[in-house]
Amino acid sequence: MDLPVYGQSDSSYKAAGEYEGIRQLVDDFYIAMDTLPEAQNIRAMHPQDLTETRDKLTRFLCGWMGGPRLYREKYGPIDIPVAHRHLPIHEAERDAWLLCMKDALIRQPYDIEFKNYLLKQLAIPAERCRQAAQKPE
Ligand code: HEM
Repeated sequence: MDLPVYGQSDSSYKAAGEYEGIRQLVDDFYIAMDTLPEAQNIRAMHPQDLTETRDKLTRFLCGWMGGPRLYREKYGPIDIPVAHRHLPIHEAERDAWLLCMKDALIRQPYDIEFKNYLLKQLAIPAERCRQAAQKPE
């Protein structure tokens, strides 16, 4: 039996449960950010009301996983490191973001291989955000 090759075409988008599944992942991600003590610092960088933030991350991840480019449709083009350049993201903040994602992934009905794959792939843009945030203007 062939295993799905995540990252090819829209296989990740499908494995994540398409829009509804990714929406659930993002809701759990921000619940983790609201509750984990390690995430207090990054939660404080976000607005009190996370309605639009949740919509933005959900839509972005749909396209990032090979599905429809819903972020671009509503908000226009985005460069993730550039969008985070103004934020004080150091190793602790990057790791806190990834910890929230790990906590959210644990709660999803995905295969363990897919959870591990996603976390590893998300570490790449998270590290790029940290690097972009270190750069002087
Ligand atoms: C490295 C740690 C990260 C921190 C501390 C962080 C923090 C933030 C903050 C504070 C905002 C602004 C929220 C708002 O004003 O609504 C934001 C926006 C956003 N973040 Fe992150 N983020 C991180 C990594 C990432 C990664 C890795 C991704 C994508 C895989 C991502 C995707 C987004 C998107 C799509 C937005 C909306 C941008 C916009 O429309 O302006 N973030 N992030």
